[in-house]
Amino acid sequence: MSNAPISKDAPKKPFLTDVKTLRQRARQNMSDGLITKTYGGDVDKAIEILQSVLATEIVCVLRYTMHAVTATGISSEGVKAEFADHAREEQAHAMSVAERIDQLGGKPNFNPEGMATRSASQYAEGENLIDMIKENLIAERIAVDHYRELIRYFGDDDPATRVMLEGILVVEEEHATDMHDLLIAHEGTPPLKD
Ligand SMILES: [Fe+2]
Ligand SMILES: [Fe+2]
Repeated sequence: MSNAPISKDAPKKPFLTDVKTLRQRARQNMSDGLITKTYGGDVDKAIEILQSVLATEIVCVLRYTMHAVTATGISSEGVKAEFADHAREEQAHAMSVAERIDQLGGKPNFNPEGMATRSASQYAEGENLIDMIKENLIAERIAVDHYRELIRYFGDDDPATRVMLEGILVVEEEHATDMHDLLIAHEGTPPLKD
């Protein structure tokens, strides 16, 4: 790289570390695993947040699975299939989040004890098909709000976690729309009020 002085009037560009420094830093931090001193945020806080996201996803797997198995009534077959699809997608989210916790140097918490307390969404059984759809819609809305906030929280401090959450958010928004459409189809009334 050139050592020529930069004019005060030069446009501001993001600072780029030179290759030699990057290499040196990587060698020095070898024992730190993925997360090195260059991690922008608070790693412990990030892990704590992701433990809650993991619990949220697991509770969603359990709720959708329970609904997929127990839903009954006229034209419940299509709804059961939709619940089962969502359960599989929530399972994939749980895996991604657990992997990320591991990468950050944490131990993903799969302990059933306290799971419902760590989770943002609730495990609600629902008395009938409509109740189930409503409970899932509520849970999806909670997840969407929660993940939007977390995406802003991670920002540029942890782009990898942010991008993972953005991917999950897209699917949660689809889930919310699916549940909303099912509610209209089966209840024929306007959607849930906020
Ligand atoms: Fe999910
Ligand atoms: Fe979802």
